[in-house]
Amino acid sequence: MSKQAIHPAKFLSGGVQMPGDKSISHRYAMLAALAEGTSELRNFAAAADCHSTLGCMRALGADVKVDKTTVRVTGHGLRGLKRSWRALDAGNSGTTIRLLSGILAGQEFKTTISGDDSLQKRPMKRVVGPLREMGAEIKAREDNFAPLEIRGGNLHAIEYRMPMASAQVKSAVLLAGLFAKGETIVTEPARTRDHTELALEEFGAAIERNARVTRIYGAGSNGSIKLQARDLDVPGDISSAVFFIAAASLFPESSILIQNVGLNPTRTAILDVFVQMGASIQIHSVQSSHGEVIGDLAVKGTSLKGGVISGGQIPLVIDELPMLAALGPYTEEGIEIRDAGELRVKESDRIAALAENLRKMGASVEERPDGLKVGGRSAGKLHGAEIEPHGDHRIAMAFAIAGLAADGTTTVRDAECAGVSFPTFYEDLNRVAER
Ligand code: S3P
Repeated sequence: MSKQAIHPAKFLSGGVQMPGDKSISHRYAMLAALAEGTSELRNFAAAADCHSTLGCMRALGADVKVDKTTVRVTGHGLRGLKRSWRALDAGNSGTTIRLLSGILAGQEFKTTISGDDSLQKRPMKRVVGPLREMGAEIKAREDNFAPLEIRGGNLHAIEYRMPMASAQVKSAVLLAGLFAKGETIVTEPARTRDHTELALEEFGAAIERNARVTRIYGAGSNGSIKLQARDLDVPGDISSAVFFIAAASLFPESSILIQNVGLNPTRTAILDVFVQMGASIQIHSVQSSHGEVIGDLAVKGTSLKGGVISGGQIPLVIDELPMLAALGPYTEEGIEIRDAGELRVKESDRIAALAENLRKMGASVEERPDGLKVGGRSAGKLHGAEIEPHGDHRIAMAFAIAGLAADGTTTVRDAECAGVSFPTFYEDLNRVAER
């Protein structure tokens, strides 16, 4: 397990490109495998998670060719997947196992899908429940955890009112709805990322959206529903860009440009949070790209005020909360996160991992069941420490950034876990960090 030393920086400068968006890459790969013909997916995420999805789609009979960040996937139509005789491996990826469960629920054969130790601890009942309601037979360890054994086919449409705001649950039901008989209707309690809906539209599914209600008409009752192969460009990952926005914001002399970032409105709430805290972010060259929005972000250093993040904001910034919390000690008022109990069932218990590592660096932290309160600058400056990311990519990266402005050297243990979403993170950071 490699260790990465993070030395203090003076400021950030220059241009940096983000890897392809992880959420969008998963969806394009899955839908391309269900389409007829060959889709070319450019700027496909280098993230290990998305390569887990590609491995699963290949095991299910799609032809997948990877040439750096260009991926060609040949699908054989909605009825074209084949039984995999070995268990599918979703690795560390919650999106792979939950979304793919929706697709597997639509197949007449039996599949086992599992993942690494962390994934086997994450709750699956949230997708197993509605998929069983649609007619899939699913066995799960303790009725909630992977491995999942799914025998699908012959699904019927349901009207599903989601008990929680989760894009993965919404997507699993919509993807199963693609195979069901009739019209599946999903209502979300709060808005979450809508990449599945946009990608389904792009590949030609019969889908309609109105605020928090999405309807999909399934192929189970209409043989004319087909997905068509598409050539698509994946936008840069805004959740990865956030580490660079945070890093630049730490130093008054910073000036960086992050190009081709995905600016889907269900993902940009984090930019609003940063701007409300006093960050300087300018958006340039906005364009649309296959239903998604992309643009360039020019970020300059400022002094961050801090604040409270809670309620309906939480599902829209869920992946960015580790970075925000780790910035707390560098803000005027500190950062408080409420209503975010979901953070405890991510790649690690992120509330506990944040509290543990912030304390190691000398921060003042109050850990709560559904969030944490991190003291601001007046609680004292952070010092370097040995960070334990608990195998969680976003914890490793958040503390690498916090280390840039701490006294002394910070060491991130098991640093390569960043590769789950951002394999070139440390190299890219070293290129723009002036020391
Ligand atoms: C994701 C949805 C979110 C997010 C995850 C990616 C997606 O999870 O945290 O990193 O691609 O749909 P939940 O749906 O569990 O909130």
